[in-house]
Formats: sequence, C-alpha cells, structure tokens
Amino acid sequence: MKLYYSSASPFVRKVTVCAIERGLDTRIERLPTKVLPSEPNRDYGKANPLMKVPALETDDGTVLFDSIVICEYLDSLGDAPQLFPAAGAARWRALRLHALADGILDAAVLTRYETFARPQELRWKAWIDGQLLKVDQALDVLEKGVGDFGAIDIGTVAVGCALGYLDFRYGERKWRDGRPKLAAWYERVATRPSFASTVPQG
Ligand code: BEZ
Repeated sequence: MKLYYSSASPFVRKVTVCAIERGLDTRIERLPTKVLPSEPNRDYGKANPLMKVPALETDDGTVLFDSIVICEYLDSLGDAPQLFPAAGAARWRALRLHALADGILDAAVLTRYETFARPQELRWKAWIDGQLLKVDQALDVLEKGVGDFGAIDIGTVAVGCALGYLDFRYGERKWRDGRPKLAAWYERVATRPSFASTVPQG
C-alpha cells in the first residue's frame, strides 16, 4: 500500500496511528505530498481529485480517501483487535467521538490556513473566531465525557490526534486550561508507541 502524506497533517497522523495499532505500518510505503489550497498540486490531483492528504493506494491500485474511509479500510485488514466497534453502544460512542474530534480538526486546520496561508489584509476575524469557538465547545464536551472513554478505538485515536494538533499549531491557546481530566487522559495516550512515534513535524 502507498500513503500520500504530509508529516504536519493530523488526518495523516490518525491514519498512521490506526496502521500502527493494527500492526500494518510496515506494509505502507510513504509518498511525501505537498498540499496547499492556494497552490493546487495537479500531479497529485491525478490520484486524488480533492488534492488533500491522506490518500491510500491499496495493493490493487484503488486510491482511497478521506481519512475516515482509510481508517475503516485498515481496520478491515489483518487480525489485530479492531478499532471500529462492530455494533451496539460502543460503535456509536466511538463514531460520535471520531466525528467530534474530526470536527475540531476541520475547524483548526481551516483556521490555520486562514491565519498562516492567507495574506493578512484578507483575513476574516469573525470567521476565525467562529471556527475557534467550535474547537473550544467541542473540547468542553470532551472534558465532560472523558470519564466514559473506553479502550483505544477510532474515537479515542481521533481525539488524541486532535489534541496533538492543537499542541502543534495552537500551543498558545492552552487547551489544557480548565480541562484537567482531558489533559490527564492525553498524557497517558501520548505515551502509546503509535502516538509517541508520530508526533507532527513541519
Ligand atoms: C499543517 O501544516 O498544519 C497542515 C498540513 C497539512 C494538512 C493539514 C494541516
């Protein structure tokens, strides 16, 4: 399998953590891929028309995207314990958590583009504030719910990647302030080899 990736992308990290947790990491070749909305990578667009990372080329040549689909695909391979609970309350808890964490990442990554890539005079403060409010409200929901987090699954993998991205790009916003239970949970999850070996760079 081939993974189109950027080492700064939290969605790539989520896929990689899943691959490591499921013992599949050594089967994946990594293809560094530059993606920026303002500089379309047309070569990459031949593989992934959305020109976002990650995308995974499977051994039969199919290119899968986005990270949600790739994680579920990796979960269908091999025989390690699955990250997507098959049914029942555990499944919906994990999928809801996954969606909440990806929502944090969508808002944080869009804000990163708005504040880093967009020229200063074109930035839209009310829009940025609206995105960061989503992040803060979702973090508050996680703080209230962290006592119910179970074993490692797709939901907790995604939450760990979201918190790691906030440390990486938004350290000055201090997400741990007022959220001691979430902070303590994250300290533990960050020591797992799958997280410790995939700290974002860039
Ligand atoms: C980042 O540099 O923060 C980033 C890079 C690729 C995808 C998403 C975020």
